[in-house]
Amino acid sequence: AYVVTDACIKCKYTDCVEVCPVDCFREGPNFLAIDPDECIDCSLCVAECPVGAIYPEDDVPKGQEAFIPLNAELARNWPSIVERIDPLPDHADWADVKDKLKYLER
Ligand code: SF4
Ligand code: F3S
Repeated sequence: AYVVTDACIKCKYTDCVEVCPVDCFREGPNFLAIDPDECIDCSLCVAECPVGAIYPEDDVPKGQEAFIPLNAELARNWPSIVERIDPLPDHADWADVKDKLKYLER
């Protein structure tokens, strides 16, 4: 499955959800998760993300491995999102910030 990683937190551009053929994105307050049971590994979402937050499970950047089980866990509890919405108001301020996991809201 593909995995949403650190860069998405506090940005949540949601361009990714529009292209997913199997509607496997789930929405939390300041992050999206991919349901790994639904993802068909088409890779279409990768190029849509303005901050490059999406990776295949076997190519997640070093140090971000925790996002693999985290996507699975969060996807179980969050509702589906299939249409693009406005990014979070201060997305531009957070787009280049690293290590945002501590800001994740559930
Ligand atoms: Fe959806 Fe394809 Fe991205 Fe998986 S890789 S989340 S199926 S768009
Ligand atoms: Fe997040 Fe990128 Fe999608 S910021 S909401 S993974 S377009």
